[in-house]
Amino acid sequence: MAAIEKLSRKDLLGLEELEPGEINLILDQALSFKEIVQRPVKKVPALRGKTVVNLFFEASTRTRTSFELAATRLSADVVNITASASSITKGETLLDTVRVVEAMNLSVLIMRHAHSGAAGLVARHLRASVVNAGDGMHEHPTQGLLDLFTIRERKGALQGLEVAIVGDIAHSRVARSDLWGLTKLGARVRLCGPATMLPEGIEKLAPGKVKVTTRLEEALEGADVVNVLRLQLERQRRFLFPSTREYSRLYSLTSEKLKLAKPDCLVMHPGPMNRGLEISSGVADGAQSVIPEQVTNGVAVRMAALYLLAGSEANGE
Ligand code: CP
Repeated sequence: MAAIEKLSRKDLLGLEELEPGEINLILDQALSFKEIVQRPVKKVPALRGKTVVNLFFEASTRTRTSFELAATRLSADVVNITASASSITKGETLLDTVRVVEAMNLSVLIMRHAHSGAAGLVARHLRASVVNAGDGMHEHPTQGLLDLFTIRERKGALQGLEVAIVGDIAHSRVARSDLWGLTKLGARVRLCGPATMLPEGIEKLAPGKVKVTTRLEEALEGADVVNVLRLQLERQRRFLFPSTREYSRLYSLTSEKLKLAKPDCLVMHPGPMNRGLEISSGVADGAQSVIPEQVTNGVAVRMAALYLLAGSEANGE
C-alpha cells in the first residue's frame, strides 16, 4: 500500500471515515512533532497567521488544554470560547454562533458538544476546518489517535495486538473511535462491560475483529493492552447497574485482575478517572500504566491534526 502524503479532507470528525493510510500519516506526523515539543524551544511557524478557536459545550481538561498548547506551538492565534459564558446563553443558535466566529477569519474550529453529530453538522456549514473534540456518544477522534500513537510507540505496531476496552462502552465516544482505529490498523478488540452497557450488535462494526464479553477475566486473558473507560454517569438516564460497589467488584481493574493479561500489558485510561470505581490507584499509578504518556502524546497528535488540516492546501487557503 502506497503511503498517503497529505490529508485530503477539510475536517476531522471521526476515525470511521479515515483510511488506514490517513491514520498512519497523522501518527507519523505526530512523531515528528513529539520530537519538537521535547526541545527547549517548542515552537514552529507552521500555522503562523492562522486562527484556531476552541468551542467547548462540555467540560474538558485534557482535550481543551492540549489543543490550545498544540495550536500555540504551531504559532497559530488561539481563542477559547466556553459556551456557558457566550451568547448561546442568550438564545443564539449553534450555527449562528459558529458563523459569528467564522466571520472573524477562522481557520480551524475545535468543538466539543453533548450531541452526536454536532461537529458534522457545523462542518457542513463552515468553510473552515472542523475538528471534533468529542460529540455525544459518537466519536472522539483525537483521543482515538493519541491512544493508537501511544500503543504504537510502546509496542512498535498495532497489527496482531489484542486490545481489551473495558467499561461503559454504550456511552463512550472513546470506545467507538478506538474500535475504528485499532481494527483499521490490524488489532483485535475485546469489548467488555455489563450487558446494559454493551450496545447490541456493536461487533458488526468490524466483523471478525471484535469480540464482546461481559466477563472481565475473559477480556483480560492474554491481552496486550487494556483501556479502561470512565463510567459516564452523566450520560446515563438511569444507573445501568445495581450499585457502584457491585460494578467495582466485577469490572474494576485491580492489580490481581491485571495478572491475567500479558506481563507487559499496557494499562490505558482516557481520563478523567474514577479511582477505586473502574480502576484501582495501584494500577493507575503502577509500572504498566501509560496514562500520563497518553496525555503527553495528546499534544503532538493534536499538533499533527491541526497541521495536516490547516497547514496544507486541503482547506483551500
Ligand atoms: N479524555 C478526555 O477527553 O478528557 P477531557 O474530558 O479532560 O478533555
